[in-house]
Formats: sequence, C-alpha cells, structure tokens
Amino acid sequence: MAPERCNRFKDISVSEKVLNTIFLLTIGMGYLMALVNTYYTHEGLDGRPGLTIEDIVISYHGKSDQTRLGTAINGIMKNNLRHASDKQVIMDWIKKGADEESYNAKIRPILDSDCVFCHNPETNPTLPNLTEYSTVSEVAHSGGASLPRLVQVSHVHLFGIAFILFFIGKIFLLCDMNPHIKRIAVVIPFLSMLVDVVSWFITKTTPSFAYVVVFSGALMGLSMGLQILLSIYQMWFYSKNEDNL
Ligand code: HEC
Repeated sequence: MAPERCNRFKDISVSEKVLNTIFLLTIGMGYLMALVNTYYTHEGLDGRPGLTIEDIVISYHGKSDQTRLGTAINGIMKNNLRHASDKQVIMDWIKKGADEESYNAKIRPILDSDCVFCHNPETNPTLPNLTEYSTVSEVAHSGGASLPRLVQVSHVHLFGIAFILFFIGKIFLLCDMNPHIKRIAVVIPFLSMLVDVVSWFITKTTPSFAYVVVFSGALMGLSMGLQILLSIYQMWFYSKNEDNL
C-alpha cells in the first residue's frame, strides 16, 4: 500500500493561502503587542529605566527592601530603633528569607524592646502585629506575584497560547522540508511555553530562574516567529516542485 501523501502549500487554494497569511500576520502583530505589554508592565520595577533581569526577579519573586517591614524600618519607623545597627540586622534577616529560627534568636528581642509598645493587638489593632512570628512574617516577606495571580495568568496563557501555537503549527506543517526537522520544530514552541510558565513559579522562590523565564520566553517567540515567516515564504515564494515529501 502506498503511503498517503501529506498536503503541502502547493496543494491548497489561493483563498486558503490568503486566509492563512492574514491569520499569521495578525498573530504576529498580536505577539509584538504582547511583547510591548510585557515591557510596559515590568519595565522600571528596579528603579532603572528599561527592562532588566532584576525587573523580572521583582515581578515574580519580589524584593527584600520592598517588604512592608523593610520599607518601614528604612523610613517612617527608623527612629523607633534604639540602636541604628539593628536596622541592618533586620534587613539581613528579611533578605535571607525571614525564617522563624533567626526571628526567635535575633529579631524578636529588637521588636519586643522597640516596637511592640505600639504594635500589639490590644493597643493598636489596626497596626501590623509585631508580637509574634506569624504576623511579623506577613510584613517581612516580599511581594512578588502571589500564587493565585500566577495560577490565573498561567491558565490564561496555557489555554490561549496552545490554540495559537496549534494553528500556526498546522499551517507550518504544510511546508516542504525534512520531516524530522518539522517534527521537532512543532514541539519547540509548546515546550518552551511550558518551561516558561513552570519557571514563573520557580522564580517566585528561586530568583535565579528569572534567566530561564527570559530564555524560554525568547525561544518560544523565536520558534513561533520562524514558523510564521517560513510558512508565509513557502506559501507565496517557494516553488520547489514535484513530489518531494
Ligand atoms: C510610637 C508608636 C510606634 C512604635 C514604637 C513603632 N511603630 Fe510602627 N507604626 C506606628 C504607626 C502609628 C504606624 C502607622 C503609620 C502610617 O500608616 O502612617 C506604624 C506602621 C508600621 C508599619 C506598617 C507600615 C505599612 O506598610 O503600612 C510597620 C511595618 C512598622 N510600623 C514597623 C515598626 C517597627 C519595626 C518598629 C520598631 C522598630 C515600629 N514600627 C515601632 C507606630 C509605631
């Protein structure tokens, strides 16, 4: 039995090519807009203009001196510290993850002597309660993206982009090229999107994963862009003919 021959661009009608092309161009525009949007929403978080790796770290992981406790003892609450050197002790503790063990050893005595006078639920129920670890911990941990927010962005991304990549891939499969390369090429954008999304979550706890976020995001954009360009090229400008599968 002769193997079934797969369709190529030369097998489809001009109207189908027009539809494919306008679809690919629109998706390409949408992707560029998404890039600009990423730029605007992340740019400058670290206080410097432009998009840096530090901006990515801050969006997912947060930043130690942007915790409420860190901001307060660097600002309005600074003068409540009896020993100015305690500020560094507290900042170091926040930076290292604000764990309970060192809280008991080093931080609690400082807060007890300088802060709980006002910061306790009896006198000032509206102020952060600095009498126990659980409530101190709330103001000592950095922002970054919250878990519910990451889950929300992830599911929208995964659903939306899966559709986009599927249709781009369907069109790209009509290209005339080595089938082994094609089989790998259709998987790459999906894989890099998955790695990208997973590394958002990892970056929340491990800031160095911001590099993986950037790399996999770039790889997805590149592989998708290549599929779009190659498809448009082969649809209109390529005429290597006759049954080269
Ligand atoms: C004399 C009372 C008093 C003392 C002592 C005091 N605070 Fe405060 N603290 C306040 C008040 C009042 C506010 C609310 C200020 C505001 O919202 O403008 C506040 C706000 C805060 C906040 C919340 C800031 C925010 O993000 O809204 C933190 C964190 C804080 N203080 C930490 C400390 C620490 C740490 C100490 C000890 C070094 C301390 N405070 C000592 C009265 C005090």
